[in-house]
Amino acid sequence: MKESIEKITAEIKSLQCKTDKEVEEARVRLLGKKGEITKLFDDFRTIAPELKREFGQKLNVLKNEAMAKIAELKEAVSASSAGAASTGNDVSMPGELHQLGSRHPVSIAREEIVGIFRKFGYDVAEGPEIEDDYHVFEALNFPPNHPARDMQDTFFVSNGHLNPLLLRTHTSSVQVRTMEKVQPPIRVVCPGRVFRNEAISARAHCIFHQVEGLYIDENVTFADLKQAILLFAREMFGADTQIRMRPSYFPFTEPSAEVDVSCNICHGKGCNICKGTGWLEILGCGMVDPNVLEASGIDSKKYSGFAFGMGVERIAMLKWQVNDLRHYFENDMRFLGEFSTYPGV
Ligand code: PHE
Repeated sequence: MKESIEKITAEIKSLQCKTDKEVEEARVRLLGKKGEITKLFDDFRTIAPELKREFGQKLNVLKNEAMAKIAELKEAVSASSAGAASTGNDVSMPGELHQLGSRHPVSIAREEIVGIFRKFGYDVAEGPEIEDDYHVFEALNFPPNHPARDMQDTFFVSNGHLNPLLLRTHTSSVQVRTMEKVQPPIRVVCPGRVFRNEAISARAHCIFHQVEGLYIDENVTFADLKQAILLFAREMFGADTQIRMRPSYFPFTEPSAEVDVSCNICHGKGCNICKGTGWLEILGCGMVDPNVLEASGIDSKKYSGFAFGMGVERIAMLKWQVNDLRHYFENDMRFLGEFSTYPGV
């Protein structure tokens, strides 16, 4: 018995466990119903009475040592698994979210406008932002020194000779470049940045974006223009949108019109966005002046066409009720973030 007690005492001292399961196995092996220490207590009953006192004490010490060691191991094992978690190995921790940017509202609006005309069968054409006087004015029936040039205050890049370079004031210049290159039928939209020498305010900016369109073929009429604009307005602002056309003047179209859509906020009743009129102006348009066709080598007896042009910022303002044009250029994250959940962005 003495040897057994010594052997088990040594075993307890050197006992090591890495997991809960190993601790439990050690407990069962030593203190379980058929465990080594339990067995010694059974043997104790049969030893000589004079030895009982000595071995009784020894057995009790052994049992206490075993229980203390098991408790100590249990604690060590659970502390080390908690320790692993606090050193960054918590696999259940949610991942870090990356901050995603979002599309700029002007890009969203431009793509929506261009997308609608693409669906109608229009191609997309682009051209230079630094243009010459010929493509921005001359070929569009603005004679030299004609007062209509004052309609669009121009930034000049070079001055003084016959065909100065300037920042284009509209993307109609791209339509001219298209007509110079291809014969009808022509269906194009020209998105792009334009520049006008205007004081910056809530309603005007010196840089903005346009989408202009051109449709030339045989027998194109004003009714075709009206239908194209109506379909566009309904795609852009909703199926119940109405349009109205008011007579206007552009040197490159005759007749010319300005187009209003029914106010999508008050539905025609009158509110402060439409200034009580029930209508919002969205674009200018008209039948291409025969002089413009001829200037670019298109036979005006055989072909006719229509053109239209709109400001992207203005369309976006009306669609999303933005009350100040400057928001588009100031990169305020609170404003830009509003568009991060826009469908399709
Ligand atoms: N180019 C004109 C503008 O910038 C818009 C327009 C285009 C009007 C085509 C009529 C026809 O204001």
